[in-house]
Amino acid sequence: YRKGFEPLVEGFLHLPYGNLERVESFLKENAEDVASIIVEPIQGEGGINVPPPGFLKGLRELADQFNVLLIVDEIQTGLMRTGTFLASEQENVVPDILLLGKGLGGGLPIGFLASRKDVGEKMGIGGHTSTMAGNPVVCASGKALLEALSKEVSSSRIESSSKLFFENLTRIAESSNFIREVRGKGLMIGIECRKPVGNLLKIMEEKGVLALNAGINVVRFLPPLIINRDEILKVCETLEESVKLVEEA
Ligand SMILES: Cc1ncc(COP(=O)(O)O)c(C=O)c1O
Repeated sequence: YRKGFEPLVEGFLHLPYGNLERVESFLKENAEDVASIIVEPIQGEGGINVPPPGFLKGLRELADQFNVLLIVDEIQTGLMRTGTFLASEQENVVPDILLLGKGLGGGLPIGFLASRKDVGEKMGIGGHTSTMAGNPVVCASGKALLEALSKEVSSSRIESSSKLFFENLTRIAESSNFIREVRGKGLMIGIECRKPVGNLLKIMEEKGVLALNAGINVVRFLPPLIINRDEILKVCETLEESVKLVEEA
């Protein structure tokens, strides 16, 4: 997933996702040289990878133990996507720096960083800014989005939509050779296939369902949080028909 993005920013080391032992053994040897751990609660672009339970909490404990910052990127997982306002809440984790974006702008481009007060103060005025930062129109859209989210999207709504998705997708996967696994949490869903999904996505688009891939062989569903029962069933039915067409081809 780094291909095409080189040269990468220097000074970052990538460790296997979900593997606390590797993080711990690295920090034991190198904590002096480490400023922070940056992590997604569920990997988005990487293929909707859900880490083992306790991974985020374990990272929080290691960050405290070794005196490094924990930066949690909730740009895909945040804003109720996985059933709670932030996915980190599910492990009672409070990040030192939190990132949000995408849907927060309600369609307008936005990026958001919040930090522990003392961490933010160390950045100094102007230490973290950009030309368009704090744009009033975009911030107004973000404020409206948060109000609408709290009125219209509850944890129980996400839970029941998620259950309906997973019940149908699991059934479809069981009778398909093309699908390897269905995984995710809340309304962040990945369908890992045995082959690249480009053609499948094209067929689904022709049938009126827009979806993106995550990596080469994962179909990603991150639908609007207000998706209703009929729409979920339509999406699943379209996936089922499209998978059949791909299998027959
Ligand atoms: C988890 C995550 N973090 C960060 C980004 C980058 O966001 P932006 O394009 O707003 O810089 C993305 C974009 O896909 C993302 O999925």
